[in-house]
Amino acid sequence: MIELRKITQDNLRKVLDLKVASGQDGYVDSNIYRLAWAYVKETNNEKPPLVFAIYHHDKVVGLVDMGFFELSETTFLFEEFGDKATYGINHFMIEHKYQGKGFGKQAMQKVIEFLRTFPQGKADAIYLSYWKTNEAARGLYASVGFVETGEIWDGQTGESWDPEREDIERAEVGARLGL
Ligand SMILES: CC(C)(COP(=O)(O)OP(=O)(O)OC[C@H]1O[C@@H](n2cnc3c(N)ncnc32)[C@H](O)[C@@H]1OP(=O)(O)O)[C@@H](O)C(=O)NCCC(=O)NCCS
Repeated sequence: MIELRKITQDNLRKVLDLKVASGQDGYVDSNIYRLAWAYVKETNNEKPPLVFAIYHHDKVVGLVDMGFFELSETTFLFEEFGDKATYGINHFMIEHKYQGKGFGKQAMQKVIEFLRTFPQGKADAIYLSYWKTNEAARGLYASVGFVETGEIWDGQTGESWDPEREDIERAEVGARLGL
């Protein structure tokens, strides 16, 4: 059974020890970086971070970091879908030795269930992005209902993607699930 649990002094070390497979490093930040971000949010009057350890029974198998975002009328999501606020998945990972067992999909279903309780305010959708070449992420998010928005940009500079470019490993795409 998969569950989302708070980060505590008891599980912090286990969360920091989680690793993705070699070759997946470029797809996500490190867990320690996400926890450092959570600290910065917490100490700068932002909404508290929504960061949870992913458990399979009593074993820590992954980490998820979510956030609540109010959107301006000029954003793509507002213009295209009328989204005024969204929850974003900032980070999602399953330790490499537990991948391919359905844990990611079950954890993402728990995440969706949790966000449908609108923990930090009403929102219209869940939004996330992934590197275009990240087949596992694409398959996982599609399997729980995310649909690509059509946005594509350079994942390092944020500039809109030139379709003539061939270095597709630098492209990032957006995907959305209506709430
Ligand atoms: C993406 C990730 C979270 C998937 O977790 P997982 O536990 O291995 O995924 P699951 O076993 O639950 O698989 C769920 C679905 O994802 C897809 N999937 C998973 N691994 C895949 C792969 N290597 N290639 C293609 N599709 C894949 C499949 O559609 C699968 O459904 P199916 O088994 O019914 O076909 C995991 O690979 C990971 O942590 N990757 C590194 C970090 C990362 O890229 N995070 C996402 C950043 S946006």
